[in-house]
This record gives sequence, structure tokens and C-alpha cells, in this order.
Amino acid sequence: MNREGILDATFQEVEEITLRPQSFAEYVGQEDLKQNLKVFVGAAKMREESLDHVLLYGPPGLGKTTMSMIIANEMGTNIKVTTGPSIEKTGDLVAVLTQLEAGDVLFIDEIHRIPKVVEEILYPAMEDYCVDVVIGKDASTRSVRIDLPPFTLVGATTRAGDLSAPLRDRFGIISKLEYYQPEDLIKIISRTAGVYNMEMEEEAKAELARRSRGTPRIANRLFRRVRDFAQFNGDTTITLARTQEALGRLKVDHLGLDDVDHKYLLGIIERFRGGPVGLESIAASIGEEPMTLEDVYEPYLLQTGLIKRTPRGRVVTEMAYQHFNIPYHTK
Ligand SMILES: Nc1ncnc2c1ncn2[C@@H]1O[C@H](COP(=O)(O)OP(=O)(O)O)[C@@H](O)[C@H]1O
Ligand SMILES: [Mg+2]
Repeated sequence: MNREGILDATFQEVEEITLRPQSFAEYVGQEDLKQNLKVFVGAAKMREESLDHVLLYGPPGLGKTTMSMIIANEMGTNIKVTTGPSIEKTGDLVAVLTQLEAGDVLFIDEIHRIPKVVEEILYPAMEDYCVDVVIGKDASTRSVRIDLPPFTLVGATTRAGDLSAPLRDRFGIISKLEYYQPEDLIKIISRTAGVYNMEMEEEAKAELARRSRGTPRIANRLFRRVRDFAQFNGDTTITLARTQEALGRLKVDHLGLDDVDHKYLLGIIERFRGGPVGLESIAASIGEEPMTLEDVYEPYLLQTGLIKRTPRGRVVTEMAYQHFNIPYHTK
């Protein structure tokens, strides 16, 4: 991240940058991805070539941006960062591509949001390291080929399904990030506590880990709030009791579900008799964006078994009824 990037970043982003692991060794979990990338990065370095293009996908907060920065660090190259929505015209992308230097990593976040016409520029860029640009007007129009240095495109997306097949096929390495196990989140929370110079009881870390929806970003965010409660009360160590109190006040329940999860699940139970119900209908009835529910909330609810997706829509499982102490047979 360059200096300007940091200056432009919000306070939370600056905190995320300081917490971000810098190497494979510091990056907790995602073992398959990490072990494979170590081999691919190592082999590319031995051959003095750029790494093949990498696509990382999965729910927000699991470490896609972090991993892309680590890839550049481990390759010993620079990283240029952009996002799908900020590339509106083909010229925007050509400008980014022609500034690359040999071996650079180009990180495109939310790559599924690149407009289709712009996306087509990426195909020859990824495959043959070149772009065709059209110059001149009317009769004098001609296409000029510009060679690019070898580079590595790292794309990140929460919606791999929205990527077109030709784009997806041009990534040599495609990997899905998984939710983290509590043991891994405990390691991440320990590291974060260390960065903030705070003592924390082991049981408190475990409690926070269980209630962080398998997501490092959420674990770090909740850690900061729990730390606020502890420091405000003059605690020198973050205890289990304080952690439970803080999470209770933040309305994070013992499965890590928050207000929106509750509205979603109770909405299906109370207004749609447990489902099946279409995504649009449930979203409209609780006043949330369908896309946010699908990308941010549903993946965790599916993973924990609180909902199921059927061809006729979403269905709440018996486990969700139990979670709210609502008898399942009344359904
Ligand atoms: N494997 C990991 N080990 C340690 N911390 C992590 C890991 N993955 C993510 N984090 C933390 O979570 C935050 C969010 O990760 P990020 O890479 O921004 O997620 P994404 O890009 O997938 O939304 C990072 O700032 C980092 O502090
Ligand atoms: Mg990201």
C-alpha cells in the first residue's frame, strides 16, 4: 500500500493495515492455500519468472487482500492495488496495465464488478502480456498493440459465480478461502492482543473466537470493542467475564450472530413459516439488500447449518428454531 493509499484510508483501514500479517509464516490457517502458494511462489522465484495469475474468492474478512499483499512480499515485488468498480472505462485499465513493471503484482479487488467491455482487455493482458488500444478517430482509426512486462494478476471476489468463464479460465491458481476454526481465530486474537499490548485470558480468547463467525476481520473488530470495555473499567487483563459482558452489550450472541442475522432468521420463521422463501422476499421484508444478505450473511448461516438453500428458496432448519427456543412442531 503506498503512502497515498494510507492517507486516503479510513481509520479502520489503517488499523487493518497495522494488523495485517506480512508473510506466509504470520498468516494463520488456510493451510491448503498457503502450502500450495509457497510451492508456486518458490518455483516461480527459482525460474525467475512472474507467478501465474491468482484468483481468491470467499466471504468478506477472511484474508483475501492480506494474502495478495503477502504474495507480493514473498515474491519480493511491488503491488499495485485497484478495484473492479473504480475501473469504469477501458482506458482506466490500460492506464493501470501500462504502468506495471516486470514482476509486479496487480491486485484487483471485487474483480467481478469490472464492466464486460473492460474485462476483454484483460484477456490478452493475462495470456500474452499485451493490450490492443484503438487510436485515432473515424477513417484514421487503427489498433496498436502495446507489450506489457510479465506481471501477476491477483483477483479477489466474494462472488466467484459472477465471473465470466473466459476470465475465470485465465487464472492459473484459483482458491476458495474457508471460514476459520476457533483454534486459528485464537491464534489471530493472541497476535492482535500482542499488537495492542493487552493481556487477555485464554478463556476470553476462546470465547471471542467462538463468537467471531469464523472471520478474522470480525475477531479483530470485536477484540477492539472488548478492549474498550476492559480499559474503560480499568482492567489490566481482558477477562472472560468482561468479554462476555461486552459481547452481550454488542448484541453478539453465543453463535456470533448479530442483529441482522436475527432479523433474517426470525423473519423467515415468523413471516414465512420457516420457508422456503425467495431471497428477494425475505430481503424486502426485513429491509436489507439481497446482495448483502447473499454475500455477507447467508454463507455463515449455511455453514453453521441454521439455514438450507433449496430450489424453492431458503429454509430455516430445526437448529435455528432451537437457537431461539421456538418449538419446531408449531411450524
Ligand atoms: N490468515 C490470517 N491471519 C491473521 N490475520 C488475518 C488473516 N486473514 C485476515 N486477517 C486479518 O483480518 C483482516 C481482514 O482481512 P482481509 O485480507 O482484508 O479480508 P478480505 O480481503 O478477504 O475481505 C486483516 O486486516 C487481518 O488483520
Ligand atoms: Mg479485501
